[in-house]
Amino acid sequence: MVYVPMSGTEPKKLFIKTWGCQMNVYDSHRMADILRPLGYAPSDTPEDADMVILNTCHIREKATDKVFSDLGRLRPLKEKKEKAGGKMLMAVAGCVAQAEGAFIMERAPYVDMVFGPQTYQTLPEMIVKATGERVINTDFPAESKFDSLPAEHGAQGSSAFLSIQEGCDKFCTFCVVPYTRGAEYSRPAVQILDEARRLVEGGALEITLLGQNVNAFHGAGPDGQIWGLGRLIREIDKNEGLERIRYTTSHPRDMDEDLIQTHALPKLMPFLHLPVQSGSDKILASMNRKHGRDLYLDIIERLRAVRPDIAFSSDFIVGFPGETEEDFEATMDLVRRVGFASAYSFKYSARPGTPAANMKGLVHDKIASERLARLQALIHAQQIDFNARSRGLSLPVLFDRPGKRPGQIQGRSPWNQSVYVQGPARLLHTIADVRIAEGFENSLTGDIEILEMSAGF
Ligand code: 5AD
Ligand code: SF4
Repeated sequence: MVYVPMSGTEPKKLFIKTWGCQMNVYDSHRMADILRPLGYAPSDTPEDADMVILNTCHIREKATDKVFSDLGRLRPLKEKKEKAGGKMLMAVAGCVAQAEGAFIMERAPYVDMVFGPQTYQTLPEMIVKATGERVINTDFPAESKFDSLPAEHGAQGSSAFLSIQEGCDKFCTFCVVPYTRGAEYSRPAVQILDEARRLVEGGALEITLLGQNVNAFHGAGPDGQIWGLGRLIREIDKNEGLERIRYTTSHPRDMDEDLIQTHALPKLMPFLHLPVQSGSDKILASMNRKHGRDLYLDIIERLRAVRPDIAFSSDFIVGFPGETEEDFEATMDLVRRVGFASAYSFKYSARPGTPAANMKGLVHDKIASERLARLQALIHAQQIDFNARSRGLSLPVLFDRPGKRPGQIQGRSPWNQSVYVQGPARLLHTIADVRIAEGFENSLTGDIEILEMSAGF
């Protein structure tokens, strides 16, 4: 859960609560950007807000319940504001809005606006309408929402996100994304390069390229050719002052040779999130993943040949319909073979409207839980081992925020590990070398090297 962004003192207060993927976090920032010219300033609490947006995620179950329970909590705040003669616009956005819009409008009559991810550019018009009537907008316009979003970002800082692609045509049988986010769409490369340049001019040292299926990117290039992600990254790489490039989330099927070769670029960080979901060919076929385990393992090997220090993370689903003990063991075997730096794993949850929701061979919840526990134990052991191996190394860390303790600053290693050190605030938004002292399950600690040296002078 992310509150976007913090505090503000201007006349109208905007509170956005965000669930789910980085795409949603990005969209919340964009909504705040769109609403800024209308006099809305972000606030970190819903109390007394003039507008509240719940930016929701529908990927796994209970999403709709969570939205209703939040709405229930917010309702008295809205009533209080109205009693005092004010108005609090209440909006539900994101994938739950897209999937359950009509239901939300029916069950929560105090909600003023429900709108899906493809409609954010029309927020100003929707607000004007909603001050008079309730609004529901779950359109899928033919042209991209990117075209009408404001070009200028709110300050994104030293580590910036840049959305280059949206939607998904893969139709994995368990997944709602193709239905809530719509068909795959790539932004034109010129627009992206322009935005990348402006982010760098605005102080970005790191850019993470975002998309639901980011490596399916195929945007029109300035040369009239269609560019793939590899080509795009090589152009972005030319920005002087930019130190780090990442991209997420990828599909194994779209890891083409050009993109794999692009991983030789030093600025492209040696860490890749590449969801596999299962290690069993039978389950992968039933998931309609369009790749088998051998292709996945082959991609890992080819990436390691180009970039020997690359580390991987992944997503796994256990207890998919028809998963036997043997299928699950194939997943465990794949995890052992690859050795992940981190990974997310989930119990399968049936999503209404997806093909897998009608599949036979349901796995008993107890068995699924037990498999999830086994998988997570293995992944945790690998993660601890990966972080422990950082001990004694000198790693460049991009410090982008104060740490939790006084005098502490926090940043990321090239492998996306969180690194905490005692250090001066002037190192924020810079990259400094850190001698790693300890590797824990979820973070590293260490000492800034330059400070040690200057202390000796
Ligand atoms: N059940 C469980 N996990 C799911 N994911 C997507 N849909 C489902 C589902 N129905 C997981 C996948 C995906 C991640 C974002 O969420 O692992 O990669
Ligand atoms: Fe969902 Fe599959 Fe598309 Fe990923 S590739 S967003 S899991 S349909």
